[in-house]
Amino acid sequence: MLSRMQTYTLPQTDLKISRLAYGCMKLGGEGDGAPLTALDRARARRIIECALERGINFFDHADVYGRGKAETAFGEALRELGVAREKIIIQTKCGIRLADTPAPGAPTRFDFSYEYLMDAAQASLKRLQTEYLDLLLLHRPDALAQPEEVARAFDALHQRGMVRYFGVSNHTAAQIQLWRKFVAQPLVVNQVELNLLRADLIDDGLFFNTAPRAYTGAADTLDYCRVNAILIQAWASVAGGALINPAPNADARTRAVAALIADIAHARNTTREALALAWLLRHPAPIQPILGTTNLEHLAACCRADDITLTREEWYLLLQTARGAPVP
Ligand SMILES: NC(=O)c1ccc[n+]([C@@H]2O[C@H](COP(=O)([O-])OP(=O)(O)OC[C@H]3O[C@@H](n4cnc5c(N)ncnc54)[C@H](OP(=O)(O)O)[C@@H]3O)[C@@H](O)[C@H]2O)c1
Repeated sequence: MLSRMQTYTLPQTDLKISRLAYGCMKLGGEGDGAPLTALDRARARRIIECALERGINFFDHADVYGRGKAETAFGEALRELGVAREKIIIQTKCGIRLADTPAPGAPTRFDFSYEYLMDAAQASLKRLQTEYLDLLLLHRPDALAQPEEVARAFDALHQRGMVRYFGVSNHTAAQIQLWRKFVAQPLVVNQVELNLLRADLIDDGLFFNTAPRAYTGAADTLDYCRVNAILIQAWASVAGGALINPAPNADARTRAVAALIADIAHARNTTREALALAWLLRHPAPIQPILGTTNLEHLAACCRADDITLTREEWYLLLQTARGAPVP
């Protein structure tokens, strides 16, 4: 294992985490109900091995990825690769129930009921072939959630040794505040969509009081998380590749920011992937980008983000280009 990536302690925990995390959403193939294939398994094993070799020790899952197949492929690969459980950090998410489950006609919905959270965590443990999750996140806010039930589920999962730490995903500051009023365990992560093209959390503080950008809907979430030592994780950290190779019909600001990324990457002798991710890493919150590529070369290119630090000027130039306007 190369293990050369920088690490830091995840606040409020004893977990030493790599600066970049690997997101396992695409492991295990499509969520079409078809069983895992030998090819799915081989691909999953290769990309996990590559991530480990690059020093990534943090793996993000959700029970719904591939309808459970991503967790299954990961659990099998870890066993085959002989990775010691304590060497890696496994995070999964729950609370989304897919359409037509358990019965045809059911809509996609969120479910933070005690029974559902307990069942979902148990099922993830089984698929991942592990006795504990380092982190369990509530995937997306459930409008019908009863905080007391979430608290009861977290207590049970923690006391039974099934989950070490808890967090949330796609939550606003106020939503986190509500859980914190009821839940005994600290909330240590908020995982949100965050990249140069979609940076509500950052824009919220920067463009406050500068109509028409005054309201982003992020409602102080970034600062709230910082004040409360809740790590921000960025999903879609390279905007699904749009920051690297924008589609031919991409809008002007996407093309402009991708071109600037390419220019700066060239000047800094690094990759475009690294440059796009370095923009997130430069933020002092800090922000942990989650990498979603399943391509070994792309993964290697992304990991070079750990080697560069953007200047203040580069950071703001990228922001300005992505916004299509200077900061006020
Ligand atoms: N909490 C949530 O609600 C939520 C939602 C979505 C995702 N996530 C998590 O975040 C992780 C990352 O999300 P994401 O997949 O949307 O993020 P991403 O890393 O921005 O996008 C990855 C996608 O971009 C493509 N891509 C094209 N060119 C690329 C390049 N040069 N470098 C890297 N990727 C390139 C990849 O294809 P190739 O494989 O061909 O490189 C892949 O399909 C997921 O795996 C999951 O763990 C969380």
